[in-house]
Amino acid sequence: MTVKTISIKSIETQGMGTLSFFEAEKDVGFPIRRIYYIHGVPEGIQRGGHAHKKLSQILFCPYGSITILLDDGTEKASVLLDKPDKGLIVEHNMWRDMIWNQANSVLCVAASEYYDPSDYIRSHDEFLRYINK
Ligand code: TYD
Repeated sequence: MTVKTISIKSIETQGMGTLSFFEAEKDVGFPIRRIYYIHGVPEGIQRGGHAHKKLSQILFCPYGSITILLDDGTEKASVLLDKPDKGLIVEHNMWRDMIWNQANSVLCVAASEYYDPSDYIRSHDEFLRYINK
């Protein structure tokens, strides 16, 4: 499986921190129609457990440490997001789970589509049937 990570452009200011940014279509290969973020999560929690039929996303963790588990139905991969400038592109037809390694880690997501519950596949068996049909 090819894991697509990007180094999010970052501008350091001496003694005053860092500003990181990316732009739709230029830095990520899709339009961005929605931003969401998951916060206030206790350590050890696992979320996700789904795939999307159409959606592309970039995931990044501006604070903390989160492991993203990817499964394309054939191969599995694990990606550690523990730096604010690391972005992970997750495209459609990819099962994902997210594990909070550290309490209050923040997972930010920029997504190519508006929220659409019908785009979700929440059963792994159904996911395997969907990608093999
Ligand atoms: P879900 O995508 O299942 O979260 P996770 O993969 O982190 O476990 O979403 C959790 C809930 O939030 C679910 O009821 C759907 C809702 N939701 C929205 O209403 N809008 C959104 O943009 C997203 C991503 C989720």
